[in-house]
Amino acid sequence: MLDIKKIRNDFPILSREVNNKPLIYFDNAATSQKPISVINSLTEFYSKYNSNVHRGVHTLSMESTDLFEEARNRVAKFINSKNSESIIWTRNSTEGINLVSNSWGRKNIQPGDEILVTAMEHHSNLVPWQILADINKAKLVILPINNDGTLNLDEIDTFINSKTKIVSAVHMSNSLGTINPIQELCSKAHKVGAKFMLDGAQSVPHIPTDVADIDCDFLVFSGHKMLGPTGIGVLYVKPEILEEMDPFLTGGEMVLEVSYEKAKWNELPMKFEAGTPNIADAIALGEAIVYLENIGMQNIRNHEIELTEYALSKFKSLDKLTLFGPLDPLIRGGILSFHSEDIHPHDIGTFLDHEGIAIRTGHHCTMPLIRSLNIPATSRASFYIYNTKDEIDYFINTLGNAIRYFTDVK
Ligand SMILES: Cc1ncc(COP(=O)(O)O)c(C=O)c1O
Repeated sequence: MLDIKKIRNDFPILSREVNNKPLIYFDNAATSQKPISVINSLTEFYSKYNSNVHRGVHTLSMESTDLFEEARNRVAKFINSKNSESIIWTRNSTEGINLVSNSWGRKNIQPGDEILVTAMEHHSNLVPWQILADINKAKLVILPINNDGTLNLDEIDTFINSKTKIVSAVHMSNSLGTINPIQELCSKAHKVGAKFMLDGAQSVPHIPTDVADIDCDFLVFSGHKMLGPTGIGVLYVKPEILEEMDPFLTGGEMVLEVSYEKAKWNELPMKFEAGTPNIADAIALGEAIVYLENIGMQNIRNHEIELTEYALSKFKSLDKLTLFGPLDPLIRGGILSFHSEDIHPHDIGTFLDHEGIAIRTGHHCTMPLIRSLNIPATSRASFYIYNTKDEIDYFINTLGNAIRYFTDVK
């Protein structure tokens, strides 16, 4: 059992009020809140260590380099990467996917090849592949979903075939909450000689992640969704693939030797980190990982299963709402996406905000998926370690009031 009261005390923002009501933060799928240790880490870096990394012989530069590389090692350990060269700092998941589609994709995708993504991808894991398919004259194939929001794997061996060169799939859907059978997708991809890329933007913050166990070739995630700052993300690449990949961005930091005619690339992972990196935020992400590890990722997952189970049961008391995604909390993250025929999601979002509750409304950057559900948008409540059953009770009660307010004939 987590000591949620103690955890909540670590997050200063949770004690503020919104519209004279205690804040209930249920927009964690968009971005998480930050514990004081992460906030302090940023202040400490700029107060004590601020200097550029890798280039300096002076003390500050060596200290900041040590902290920066220590954070990289922490990330490697957190996802069970055997070495830290496989950890490339990016700005976010989006940049990681763009790096792979440009660096690996442009070189390895041939005309007629197939790239497989699922029907529930975030735009970040769709648009880069659309562009790659267009440029390299390949075909982008979409794996469909069932009515319950799970992947339709009935014809998976047709979808993943000898033409498939990469399968890129979301682990936990940000719109439906579905947790996908990524191990199965990964092994099917490898069987036909394709690479497997995992979009872990929603899963890495909430579920223990082991890249050696999954055997994925690429994994991306974003610091800001896992208690870390904005502007820092991670791309993991299997070492043997990393060696073969060309750089994405070029310039300073990523070169070893430069003449007026040409340049020789720096060692891994710097080869993929052109320019001054986001030093302070990388170090603060390391602090976020320390915080998560102290609680334990499996404990976090268990807490969220409990919250989800509770929320799903309470949700049954509300009529006039359609809930999307699977009902089994073991294959669903702490995300509740729902729609009412009679009320626009923005009205629901605004009503809840008046009562201090922050949820997200819209297409959640999954426009094709939302359109396929024949709705304009959904309302989404998403949980994290600091959320409680009491908050869910208040949310369900307020949602009930919202439904009555907007649908009762006056
Ligand atoms: C499943 C999924 N993939 C990718 C992203 C993109 O993350 P970022 O905006 O941090 O790049 C998100 C963000 O919400 C997401 O939910």
